[in-house]
Amino acid sequence: MRRKLAAGNWKMNGTPAELAQLNALITAHPTPNVDVLICPPSTLVAQAADIFAAFPLAIGGQDCHTAKSGAHTGDISADMLAAAGATYVLTGHSERRTDHGETDAVIASKSTAAYDANLTAIICIGETLDEREGGTTLDVLDAQLAGSIPDTATAANTVVAYEPVWAIGTGKVPTLDQIAEVHAHIRARLTARFTDGDGFRILYGGSVKGSNAADIFAVVDVDGALVGGASLTAADFSPIITALE
Ligand code: G3P
Repeated sequence: MRRKLAAGNWKMNGTPAELAQLNALITAHPTPNVDVLICPPSTLVAQAADIFAAFPLAIGGQDCHTAKSGAHTGDISADMLAAAGATYVLTGHSERRTDHGETDAVIASKSTAAYDANLTAIICIGETLDEREGGTTLDVLDAQLAGSIPDTATAANTVVAYEPVWAIGTGKVPTLDQIAEVHAHIRARLTARFTDGDGFRILYGGSVKGSNAADIFAVVDVDGALVGGASLTAADFSPIITALE
């Protein structure tokens, strides 16, 4: 049985004032019966982890370097995230792929760095609108799955997040049939490649809100969500957690 996961990605948003949202989340969901994760900017990871420390809610990083330490100005390592209290890290988010030119090979290497630091990697994949309209979605996802997920991935150390690039922050959401098709495809690829492939959690991400969450969560092989904008406040994120519970 896969445990559901509601994951929030704050992206480049949040100062210490916004940490109050975490206390509000605790008040609303002190003992959720699904996994709840917030990935704040790296400046807030340690403080956020302290706030969640006494509760079964998790903190993650949004990215990590491939190396454990060294001369990489501005970067952060998986070990640093773990030492700050993170237990997850996102790898391969489409904004990292686009803004920083991250390739599948780099993402696989970052995911391996996450495993080495005992972090669970949430490996993100997704097609662009051109790829969707050109009919190459499943081919694109196959290449990303093959190239971004290390051979050492397991259901325990890896979560896959399907985020169609055209649905991120746009208010556009694929049809439930499109989500079902992709998640079934990802599941088939995972079970073909990994002995515990049926245990990997597969999240949907892209304009998830309280109003559409329940329908999306009813789709087979949707094990939760990776949420951007609607994770920034407890008021918006809480209904998504409730829909998953
Ligand atoms: O990582 C989550 C994200 O890319 C989705 O963003 O704002 O569409 O929920 P949003």
